[in-house]
Amino acid sequence: MPISRAIAKQLEQSSWIRRMFEAGVQLRRERGAQNVFDYSIGNPDVEPPEAVIAALRQVVAGNRPHSHSYMPNAGYPEVRATLAGRLAGRSGIPFTGDDILMTNGAAGAINTILKAILDPGDEVMILTPYFPEYRFYIENHAGRVVTVETDQQFQPDPARIARALTSRTRALILNSPNNPTGVVYSESVLREVNRVLPDPVLVICDEPYRPLTFDGAVTPEAVRIFDRAVIAWSWSKAMAIPGERIGYLALPPHLPGVAQLRDACTMANRILGYINAPAIWQWVVAAVPDACVDVAQYQAKRDLLCDALHSMGYDAPRPQGAFYVFPRTPIPDDIEFIGLLKQEGILAVPGIGFGRAGYMRLSLTIPRDDIERSLPGFERALRRAKEIMPLATRELTRAV
Ligand SMILES: Cc1ncc(COP(=O)(O)O)c(C=O)c1O
Repeated sequence: MPISRAIAKQLEQSSWIRRMFEAGVQLRRERGAQNVFDYSIGNPDVEPPEAVIAALRQVVAGNRPHSHSYMPNAGYPEVRATLAGRLAGRSGIPFTGDDILMTNGAAGAINTILKAILDPGDEVMILTPYFPEYRFYIENHAGRVVTVETDQQFQPDPARIARALTSRTRALILNSPNNPTGVVYSESVLREVNRVLPDPVLVICDEPYRPLTFDGAVTPEAVRIFDRAVIAWSWSKAMAIPGERIGYLALPPHLPGVAQLRDACTMANRILGYINAPAIWQWVVAAVPDACVDVAQYQAKRDLLCDALHSMGYDAPRPQGAFYVFPRTPIPDDIEFIGLLKQEGILAVPGIGFGRAGYMRLSLTIPRDDIERSLPGFERALRRAKEIMPLATRELTRAV
C-alpha cells in the first residue's frame, strides 16, 4: 500500500533516532545489555515523585461520577482554573481557567497552536540546533520550516532572526531550557528578540524542561517578555510521566484576538483527534501541579560526565538545564565519531540530527553507574579520533 510522499520523507529524516534505536538493539544482542551505554534517548530513567503516585491513587479511588466521559474539549473547568492560578502566581500575568487548554503533552500543545494559526506556506522559525520533531509538527500543518542559527553560546541571535523574517513568518518556536544544548535563554537576549519581531509573529514557548535547571538558574518568564507569546507546557519531564501525555497550552489574556484564538485552538485540538487531554491525569496534575523529580540527581550526573569529559580533553559545555550534554565532537564529522563511540558500546545522537554537525547529544537519563563504566570508552574514542584527525581534516578540506 503506498504511503504519502510527505510521510515517506519524514520517515527518512527521522532515521537518526531510528538508527540509534536499532544500533542499541543490535549492540545489546552482541555484547549483553550491561555493556551498552545508551545516551541516545531522552526518556526519564527515574520514577515519578511519590506525591504524583499518591494523587493518582486518590483520583482513581475517588471515582468521580462520569470519570471517564467526554468533557469540554478544553479540559475540566476546575482543573484549568487551578492551573491558571498557579501560572498567574508564577508569572504575574492574570491567567484564568479560560486561558488554559489541556493538551496531550507539549507535542499536543505545539501541534494545536500551529494548526490554529498556519495557512499553507506560512513560515515558522526554529533555532538551530533544534528539537527535530519541530520539523514534522510544522510540516504537519503545511507550514514551511525556516531554521536560524544560534550564537556561539547557543543563545538566540536577534540579528539573524530579524534577517530571516519575511511577510509569511507566523511564528518562532523557542525552547528553554533547551533540548539538545541544555542552555537557558537569557532575559536580555529574549527582550532583544521581542524588539525585532513584528506583529503578528507569535512566539511559541516550548517549556517542558522549565523546572529542570541547575545551580539555581531560573528560566525567564517569556510571557512577560514577549508582546505575543503562548506557553506549551508539559509534565512529561518534570514528573517523569511522558507516557501519560499531559500538558497544556496557555494563551495570555492580553494576547491580541485571544478569544478567537482560544476557539481556534480548541477546535484544532479536536480535529487533530486528541479531543481532550487524558481525563484522570488532568485531576492528578491539578492535585500536585508543582511535584517534580529530584533535579539534584540530574545535576550530579551532569557534573560527573562533564568533569570527566573535560579532564579527557573534550569541549563539553556544562548545561544549565534540561537533561542533555551537547559536546563538540573531537573530529568535525560527528557521524564518524558516533561510530567510534559505538565501537565502545556508547550510543549518542550526532549533532546533525539536530541541524548542527560537529556535535553530539548525550542524554543524562542514563544510570549513574553506566556513566562511570562508559568513561574509559569515551577516552579510547577520543584517542582514536586524534589518530584519524589529520585524515579527517584533509578530507574536509578536499570536500570544501
Ligand atoms: C524540546 C521538546 N519539546 C517537546 C517535547 C515533547 O514533549 P511531550 O512529551 O510533552 O509531548 C519534547 C520531548 O522530548 C522536547 O524535548
